[in-house]
Amino acid sequence: MDKIEIIGGVKLSGEVTISGAKNAVLPLMTAAILSSGENIIRNVPNLRDVMTMGKLLAHLGFGFHLEDNQILLQTKKITSIEAPYDFVKTMRASVLVLGPLLARTGRAKVSLPGGCAIGARPINLHIMGLEKMGAKITLSEGYIEASAKRLKGATIYFDIPTVTGTENLMMAAALADGTTILENAAREPEVVDLANALISMGADIQGAGTSSIKINGVNKLRPLDYTVIPDRIETATFIAAAAITRGDVKIKGGRPEHLEAVINKIKEAGVRVVQKNDKLIVKGPERLSSIDIKTMPHPGFPTDMQAQFMALMAIADGTSLITESIFENRFMHVAELKRMGADIKVEGSTATVKGVESLTGAPVMATDLRASASLVVAGLAAHGTTVIDRVYHLDRGYEKIEEKLRMLGAKIRRVK
Ligand code: EPZ
Repeated sequence: MDKIEIIGGVKLSGEVTISGAKNAVLPLMTAAILSSGENIIRNVPNLRDVMTMGKLLAHLGFGFHLEDNQILLQTKKITSIEAPYDFVKTMRASVLVLGPLLARTGRAKVSLPGGCAIGARPINLHIMGLEKMGAKITLSEGYIEASAKRLKGATIYFDIPTVTGTENLMMAAALADGTTILENAAREPEVVDLANALISMGADIQGAGTSSIKINGVNKLRPLDYTVIPDRIETATFIAAAAITRGDVKIKGGRPEHLEAVINKIKEAGVRVVQKNDKLIVKGPERLSSIDIKTMPHPGFPTDMQAQFMALMAIADGTSLITESIFENRFMHVAELKRMGADIKVEGSTATVKGVESLTGAPVMATDLRASASLVVAGLAAHGTTVIDRVYHLDRGYEKIEEKLRMLGAKIRRVK
C-alpha cells in the first residue's frame, strides 16, 4: 500500500495546471452507452475511478482505451447488461450505467451500491424516477433489475437535489418517448457538462444548470466527441494548498465561475484570489481568519471541499463552525487532523474548529477521497513530517497530485 510523505512548512509557489473533472468524465463515459459507434472523450484525467469505469464498460462489451488523457469508447455491441457488485462496491458512480442501459436495451441489472465511508448514499430517487418513466424495477439479492420496452417521458420531482440521480434520469430521458421534466434537479457544473455532451450527440435538453430541466426524447443519438471541463474540486484543493502555506500560486485552466461559493469564502478568510486571463493567482495571508461554512447543493459551498477547508480553519485565527448538510458521516478526517494537533469538536452535523498556532506532522490515515486531500493540505503546513497511509483513496480523484505539488516546491514524495 503506497504512502505519501510530506515535510511541511514550504511556501508553495509557481504554476499548476488543472486536470479534467472526475465527476464530469464518469457520467460522460456512461452517456456513450446511448449511442452505437466510436466515442471520443478529451481532457480525461488519469484516475483510478476512470479506469474502474472503463473496466465496467469493457465488461458490458464495449471497447475502452485510455491514452494521453483521451478515451476511445467503441459502443457498437453490448454483450452484457449487468453491472456486478465488484465494480459498484469499489465505485458507486457505477450506478450511472443504469439509465443509459435501460434507455438503449430496455434492460439493466445493477448491483445496489451499498453504503460507503461517508454515508448510506441510497439511490431511491434514481429508482423512483425510472419507475415514473415506466420501468419495472425489482430488487433481489442486492441487485436492481430494471426493464422497460421503451421509457416514457414523465415529470419527476426530486425530494433532494441528487447529482448522479439527475444525470441518470437525464440520460434515460434523452431516448425516451415524449418529454421529461426533472424538478429540483442538481445544478452542479458536471450536470451541465453532461447536458452539453448529450446535446452534442443530438439530444434535446433545456434548463441544465437550473433546478428544472426539460428533456424531449429523440429516437437516436450520435456518438460522443467531447472535451471534459476542468475539475473544480481539484482547483479548490490547490487554492487551499496555496492558502495554508502562505504561498503565491498560479492555477491554470480552472473555471472560477464553477467555484464562486468557495472563492467568496476563501477571500473572507483573508486569501487574495485574482483572475488573470485563464489563471487564478492565489496568495495566502500570514494568518488565515476563521469563518463559518455550511455545505449545500450547487451553487452553495460544495461538500467535496468541506474536509480541505477544515484543514485551513484548523490553523486560522479564531473559531469556525463547519456544518455538513449533504452527507451524514463526512467528518472522518477530524480524528486524523486532531492527531496533528487540531482542536475540533463534532456535535451532530457541525464541527467547531478552534484555530491553533500550527499543526505538527504525524502518521495519519486516509479514509475517503476528500479526507485524504484534507490531510495533504494539513501536512503541507504542519511542522515536521506527515505520512499519509492508504493513498489509494487519493488516487481515485487526483491526477499526479504529489508531482503537481512538488512542482510548486512542496517536499512531498510517494513511498512504496
Ligand atoms: C455526487 O455524488 C458526487 N459524485 C460526489 O462526489 C458529491 O459529494 C455528491 O454528488 C454531492 O455533491 C459523483 O458525481 C460521481 P447525491 P452522488 O446523489 O450523486 C442523498 C467525490 O468526492 N440521496 O447528490 O452520489 C445522498 O445520500 C464524490 O468526488 C438520496 O437520499 O450524491 C446525499 O445525502 C463524493 N437518495 C444527498 O442525497 C438518492 O437516490 C446528495 O447525494 C440519491 C441521493
